[in-house]
Formats: sequence, C-alpha cells, structure tokens
Amino acid sequence: MDKYGIIGFPLDHSFSPEIHNRAFNYLKINACYEKYEIPFQHFKESVLQLKTSATKGFNVTVPYKQEIIPYLDEIEPLAKKVGAVNTIQKSGNKWIGFNTDLYGFLLPLKDHLKSIASVLIIGAGGAANAVCFALLNEINIKVFDISNRTERKAVDLSRKLEKEFDIRFGLPNLNEAVKNSNKYDLIVNTTNVGMGNLIDKNPISIPTLTHNSTIVYDLIYNPKQTLFLESAQELNLKTINGFPMLIGQAKKSFKIWTGQDYPGQIITEELFYKNPI
Ligand code: ATR
Repeated sequence: MDKYGIIGFPLDHSFSPEIHNRAFNYLKINACYEKYEIPFQHFKESVLQLKTSATKGFNVTVPYKQEIIPYLDEIEPLAKKVGAVNTIQKSGNKWIGFNTDLYGFLLPLKDHLKSIASVLIIGAGGAANAVCFALLNEINIKVFDISNRTERKAVDLSRKLEKEFDIRFGLPNLNEAVKNSNKYDLIVNTTNVGMGNLIDKNPISIPTLTHNSTIVYDLIYNPKQTLFLESAQELNLKTINGFPMLIGQAKKSFKIWTGQDYPGQIITEELFYKNPI
C-alpha cells in the first residue's frame, strides 16, 4: 500500500486525510493518507526519518511551509519564488517541492480574473504572501494595496514582492483601507481574524462605500461564513470562503501524486460542513 500524509502542528483539525482517503477509496487506489503531527523541537529528526521512509508524498502545512525547503532535492520555480511549499512528491529517492495553494486560491476566482484591476490584501503573513504571488503571477493589477495590523510586516512583504514583480504597492493602515475601499475590485482577508477565538471579530469593517461588483474573499473555511463575509453579503457583494481553496489545493496535490484527476463530486460543501472539523 502506498503511503501519503500531512506534516504540520497541530493537525487535529486537518481535513486533508478525509479528502485524500475518500479519493483513494473511490478510485480503488491502494494507498492511505495519514497525519504526521510534528512538534517544533522534533522537526529535523522527524523529517529526516520520513525522508528515508517509503512515504510517497506529503502535504506540508502550518508552521512548516518554509522550514521544509532545505530538506528538498528539487523545487518547482514558482514554489521557490514564493518561498513556501505545501506539497512534496517523492521521485526515486528525491523530494520535489510544489506549491498548490496558489492554484487553490485562484480556482474560485477564475471567471472573474479579467475584471480585477484593484486589490486589497488584509494581512502580511505566509498566506498573504502566497495570495499576492498567485494574483501577480496571473493578472495585471493596477492598484495593489496590502494592509496589516503590524505595518512593518506589510512593508517587508511589499519589498520582497517588488523584487519579483514590476509593481508599486500601496500600504494603507487598516483604517485607511476601510475609507478607500470603494476603489477595490477584490478584497481578501488572509488573517485569522474571524475564526477560533477571533470568531466575533472583523479584520476590517466592510464599509457601505464598497462598489457593488467588489468580490470579498475570506481564506477562512471554518466557520463557513465569517462575520466579514456576512457583512459583505448584506451589501449584496459576491463572497468566497476558504472551502474551494482547501479542495483546490488538495486536487492539485492529488494529481501530482497519482497522475489522476481528483473525483470532485465526492467532497461537497454539504458533506464537509455536516461533519465539522
Ligand atoms: P499565515 O501563515 O496563516 O498567514 P501568519 O504568517 O502568522 O499566518 O500571519 C497571520 C496574519 O494575521 C498576520 O498578518 C497578522 O497580523 P500581524 O502581522 O500584525 O501579527 C494577522 N493577525 C493575526 N491576529 C490578528 C488580530 N487579532 N488582528 C489583526 N490581525 C491579526
């Protein structure tokens, strides 16, 4: 039986085993997908152990998407540029790193990309970095603003991106971003404000100024509808939650590992939210 898995910490809420094991069963592939929950102090030894194991592929999640890179033998150019890897394929004895989060993020936007010329990204951490790369790699954006609680981190992220892309970023603080929000075609929340112990908080208040074709995208998938998306829906704006991205990145990883298309119909939103993680 072929083995696959996910490396991260903590992993108790990970939905990835369900996503991949269902597909292995459905397609009658003799494989299983397990959690490898690795505490930070055991990261190096655990990864080296896995490297000599028979495991054929991994997902890598928080907090190891950057830490894993020195252990790879090869890395696809885009993942290298982004500086984050969420998928590893074992080929012979080599580990090859990919980033399928970018594909997952763009999937629910694909019919709208042509009409997006101005963007606001809220947050400046690892998820914001991947989202910026995905967008800048795909479309020509005239206004690109990054707004973060800690403004220094937004500056650092913009400097890193300006080395890769021919663009100047706007760096409004969160209040300024709200005031100017009528200029954005797409607003993305990449922070964890709206989930866990921040479930009753908004990353920014959605102002009534937002124009009516603005898309509001929250990477959070649990809860299904954050307060942020709820306020956007009240204004009749198009909203996207993090569920299609979760499935999208998994589909692409599955294809890399097995060469087969993920049978999309076996994981639905209904199924996912009926068995909350
Ligand atoms: P990830 O890999 O999920 O992006 P991260 O790199 O730790 O995680 O980034 C978390 C992001 O959420 C950051 O932009 C963080 O803002 P700071 O840079 O100011 O820490 C943002 N964030 C987390 N908690 C927040 C809060 N309570 N209010 C506003 N922003 C918050």
